Amino acid sequence: MNMNKGVTRFLLSHAGKNPVSFHMPGHKGSEIYRENGYGDFLDNFVDCDITEIPGADNLYQAEDIIAETMAAYRRLYGVRESYLLINGSSAGLVASILTCVHRGGKLIMARNCHKSIFNGLLMAGAEPVYLHPEMIDDYGISGEISVDSVRTSIAEHPDASAVILPSPNYYGVCSDIKEIASVVHDAGMVLIVDQAHGAHLHFFGSCLGEPSKAADDLGADIVIQSTHKTLASFTQSAIVNLCTDRVDKYLFEDKLQLIESTSPSYLLMASLDINADLLDRQGERLIREWEENLKWFYEEAPVQVEGLRVMSHPMLDHTKINLDMSAYGIDGLELEELLNEKAIFPELVTGNIVMCMTGIGNKRCDYERLLEALKEIAAEHGLCEVADGVPLAAPEATQTVTMKRLQQTAIPTAKESVPMEEAAGRVCAASIIPYPPGIPIICPGEIIDQEVLDYCADLRARGEKVMGIDDKGRVLVGR
Ligand SMILES: Cc1ncc(COP(=O)(O)O)c(C=O)c1O
Repeated sequence: MNMNKGVTRFLLSHAGKNPVSFHMPGHKGSEIYRENGYGDFLDNFVDCDITEIPGADNLYQAEDIIAETMAAYRRLYGVRESYLLINGSSAGLVASILTCVHRGGKLIMARNCHKSIFNGLLMAGAEPVYLHPEMIDDYGISGEISVDSVRTSIAEHPDASAVILPSPNYYGVCSDIKEIASVVHDAGMVLIVDQAHGAHLHFFGSCLGEPSKAADDLGADIVIQSTHKTLASFTQSAIVNLCTDRVDKYLFEDKLQLIESTSPSYLLMASLDINADLLDRQGERLIREWEENLKWFYEEAPVQVEGLRVMSHPMLDHTKINLDMSAYGIDGLELEELLNEKAIFPELVTGNIVMCMTGIGNKRCDYERLLEALKEIAAEHGLCEVADGVPLAAPEATQTVTMKRLQQTAIPTAKESVPMEEAAGRVCAASIIPYPPGIPIICPGEIIDQEVLDYCADLRARGEKVMGIDDKGRVLVGR
């Protein structure tokens, strides 16, 4: 191919490195498609990119082939309704908010929600009431949303109509959805769970016979899941499940078609179809293999790499492997760089934590390569002095800054652009969002805080992407 610049060149060059993917998407490449009998779809990929010709059904009035895929998901998850999403979980989250919260109404939401939820809030013209997640101080990352915080918010805002929170969050920490659902329903509200990172959870429960961490199984009303993140469908495909009759399905369908593309990709829908078929036919085997590989890694890694911390937590979805090599004087960004040099690509870095996101397509050899790489890095750097197994470098309290409770005021309508250095004390007019994880650090209507600005400046200096701060270092504030 004679393309020497642009997206295609990058993708082909990356694919040529024999990379190990511990990032999204969950299929991890073509192998899982070819090995399980879907190679002809890949071979005819471009020819399958069609539109609504006769026989191809219609995503927004599904009666035939698309309805079959929807029915497959309904059966797989054991829910009332399943919808295919071709604009990611983002679309399902926005549609859920537009369905459940009226203009001027209140939405009780986790402060560490994804950007799309803040977008939905703005589109709905609704007011946020924030739930602040607990901190996992030992690792410097955000943890679960406590049942008590939901109870308190509901008592203070009985006029809210819905509660929304991520479970699992980006690091894999789940919340007690069963208890939260009971509190939310007692108050006559709807519980929406952003399970973008947990499309696999239901299958870990059903295939391994373990208590389920999936919100679909624990009483949530609407559950949105990015099958592309951990299962086998393509990036940007996802599903949303309506699990109870508390939500008007016709209103929900109307909101979905309002915000999704009117040219839904048949390639994305086919990948959702294949993902459902794969789970149906091979799900149990694949989930068992996934679990065995994880078990192997969690057992071997701390033994073979002295001082390596592999996060464990009672509420953790262990398919997210959070690694900390600060005992070697290596922080998260350095560890990511060292892994990248060995063609291993993790998903996320925060402070000392590097999160490796496993998926249904990862093979034992991927976990072996990760462990080998960690051993080599450990040997090259050497352990710093460790007292009682506690790493010398304490986790940077990055999340303490990101979870700071900022003073809130009305969302400004008139805006102006000012240099970051002059922004402290002004009202934020456009979200400031470090990527990843795509969780706003300052939201519209909040008073911009110097400590948070300093943190953003530090991220930018380290070459990380911070949306909402332009290339000249300016931010939008209320005028
Ligand atoms: C917690 C969380 N929710 C929702 C989303 C949006 O999912 P999607 O990329 O499928 O639109 C993301 C994306 O990374 C996320 O991290």
